[in-house]
Amino acid sequence: MKKKLLSAVLATAMAASLLAGCGSAASTQTSSGSSNGKVGVAMPTKDLQRWNQDGANMEKQLKEAGYEVDLQYASNDIATQVSQIENMISSGSKVLVIASIDGDSLGTVLAQAKEQGVKVIAYDRLIMNSDAVSYYATFDNYMVGTKQGEYIKQQLDLDNAAGPFNLEIFTGDPGDNNARFFYGGAVDVLKPYIDSGKLVVKSGQVDFDNVATANWSTENAQSRMDAIISANYADGTKLDAVLCSNDSTALGVTNSLEANYTGDWPIITGQDCDVANVKNMIAGKQSMSIFKDTRDLAAQTVKMVDAIMKGTEAPVNDTKTYDNGTGIIPSYLCEPVFADVNNYKQLLIDSGYYTEDQLK
Ligand code: BGC
Repeated sequence: MKKKLLSAVLATAMAASLLAGCGSAASTQTSSGSSNGKVGVAMPTKDLQRWNQDGANMEKQLKEAGYEVDLQYASNDIATQVSQIENMISSGSKVLVIASIDGDSLGTVLAQAKEQGVKVIAYDRLIMNSDAVSYYATFDNYMVGTKQGEYIKQQLDLDNAAGPFNLEIFTGDPGDNNARFFYGGAVDVLKPYIDSGKLVVKSGQVDFDNVATANWSTENAQSRMDAIISANYADGTKLDAVLCSNDSTALGVTNSLEANYTGDWPIITGQDCDVANVKNMIAGKQSMSIFKDTRDLAAQTVKMVDAIMKGTEAPVNDTKTYDNGTGIIPSYLCEPVFADVNNYKQLLIDSGYYTEDQLK
């Protein structure tokens, strides 16, 4: 994403007031600058728009609640994230808020955190196989997938139309626990139609391992789509829908279709409402994107930080879904909604998430 555009997006995200929904402003209020303690915030990468917004919202809201903030981005490099977390622990952070790159790679460093009494909140992505994790704040990841699957089901009218329809599937990084929930939610909706033959996946790539996209990378999704088109759709065969778990994969699929596909444009799903994808939605190149208001997730996470700092219990609304291998992690799940060309103005512009100009 271009730097200028990104800073405009961040400025709006930071200036915007909090929406009602899963999150509302944190309870502790001291003037910013004073310190209720230091909080380390570890984000995976600056490459994707959403993590920049998450980081900016977390920093802003934690500062408003009187905390000192150590915010770090790790360029999607696991070793970098581990060493950033080590530094956060050694430089006095009392709570760590971590959006992991690979959910399974933080066991050792988080054992150090636990030893030193530093508490951990898994942010957006669950941290696996570590008993140092106190809470998990996220969106309902299975529901994200369900909404994407339902969207395709409704748009193709799968219960009534004769079909068959051609579908291809793109999900996320295998090291991200969320990817399995997104995939599972969508495939649970679509599988009966695949089994009955109403949906046909001509590439034959349906299983999670075959449709995963390393690092959620646009380039990886694009090159897999290039290969799928040349083997199955280059002769004018119509592709009816592409289930993409998020916007970075949807962008790769769209780029590939633009370069290689001549048939009627398929339904394409996404997630995050990144600026480039909302623009594609307005231009008719992407059908929908799940909107996860990162301001709400930050607000909910700040409540968890507050509770930990005060030695009280944080509000949670799910105590059964997310087992990280050491037991269930008490979670707060925010509700995702879907945006399309009909409702994006209300969801994204009226709420102050973006300005109209950013989407031009
Ligand atoms: C997040 C998505 C995001 C993806 C790629 C997932 O863990 O939940 O919102 O699109 O990672 O960064």
